[in-house]
Amino acid sequence: MAVEYTLSIIKPDALEKRCVGAIMSRIENAGLKIVATKMTSISLEEACNFYEVHRGKPFYNALCTFMASGPIIAMVLEGENAVSKYRALMGETNPLKASSGTIRGDFGKDVTEANRERNLVHGSDAVETARSEIAFFFSTLERLSVVQ
Ligand code: CMP
Repeated sequence: MAVEYTLSIIKPDALEKRCVGAIMSRIENAGLKIVATKMTSISLEEACNFYEVHRGKPFYNALCTFMASGPIIAMVLEGENAVSKYRALMGETNPLKASSGTIRGDFGKDVTEANRERNLVHGSDAVETARSEIAFFFSTLERLSVVQ
């Protein structure tokens, strides 16, 4: 099995709910290693660039506004099959459909159709995507492991 790197973002709603520690524990308990992390915030323009792939979708504006609304925590996770392992840990995109035992399923049950973008965490959807998403948040010097 291949060691992979993936980008995780703990979103503003998770910081508001104070479940950052719980999310990080779940990541580590799943066998993933946090090899870079920073608390930061992004501008509306940066959020729109990060989610460029979703431009034009009905939820795009709300998503970008939400991501720029407060502090976030970006992390690089390392591990065997890190991309799929972390996506399984997050659960389905819609917290109302996410299984219990997943981050979104356990911490996102207060979400409504009107604020569906508030799903606590982001994880890269593929190794290639992870590469560019990691570079969006971290310089080479900020990564403990070699993430090319
Ligand atoms: P994320 O994994 O960060 O990837 C894209 C984000 O868009 C997703 O999590 C949600 O925050 C948001 N999103 C995806 N689909 C919808 C939707 N139907 N309604 C509102 N937000 C959505």
